[in-house]
Amino acid sequence: MDKKNRKAIIAGNWKMNKTATEAGLLLDDLIPLVEYAGCEVVVCVPFTDLKTAVDKCAGTNLHVGAQNVHFEKSGAYTGEISADMLVDLGVEYVVIGHSERRQYFAETDETVNKRTRAALAAGLKPIICVGESLTQREQGVTEELVRLQVKVALLGVSAEELKNVVIAYEPIWAIGTGRTATADQAEEVCAAIRKVVGELYGEDAAKALTVQYGGSMNAGNAAELLSKPDVDGGLIGGASLKADQFAVIVKAAAEG
Ligand code: 13P
Repeated sequence: MDKKNRKAIIAGNWKMNKTATEAGLLLDDLIPLVEYAGCEVVVCVPFTDLKTAVDKCAGTNLHVGAQNVHFEKSGAYTGEISADMLVDLGVEYVVIGHSERRQYFAETDETVNKRTRAALAAGLKPIICVGESLTQREQGVTEELVRLQVKVALLGVSAEELKNVVIAYEPIWAIGTGRTATADQAEEVCAAIRKVVGELYGEDAAKALTVQYGGSMNAGNAAELLSKPDVDGGLIGGASLKADQFAVIVKAAAEG
């Protein structure tokens, strides 16, 4: 089955939560719980927690990600963090284009593309977030919108670079609301994402792509979502802040 050929990835997006001290404590709880995970486990932590996370996760099966990256290599961009800075710290993944960044920080498909290319050029693995609002879903444009987001995000990304890309389908209406997409809704859009990647890069590349679902995924609903053929993992917000709940999702991914 295709799913067996690609990497299942469960990534926690801690958002703006946890001081570095608190991050250390959460990782102390989490590391033993996911020690024998049958999937890749990533924690995407605030910039100020990265050093702590990289140090704590060294020699474990956890991988560390950031939650954003600037697209310029260096320069007069006060407050920004470059891809080289993340790589130098030992960071491996980076979340790009999360809907909260699109909504509150004027992120656009174009800047998502620029960040994706900068991340890949530096050797980071981008987790590119796409997804529709409730209005867009009700307007019946979800698939077209997500196709467009994926196409623009991947402009100028080579087939070789694509191997390091993860795409996360995160319907905005499901984020932080407790209102999860049904497993069928998640599957439908994750399959559409794989289809557009197939059109751009060919069948083999599409089959190898990890597509995650995110939006109120938790210990109770993860198994059903992750059992779907095109849902290869999850990007978890709230439930990633509780070690025991996150560990249940990790276990479900290994079984899905
Ligand atoms: P919640 O799991 O809190 O809904 O957040 C999902 C998300 O935005 C992950 O990036």
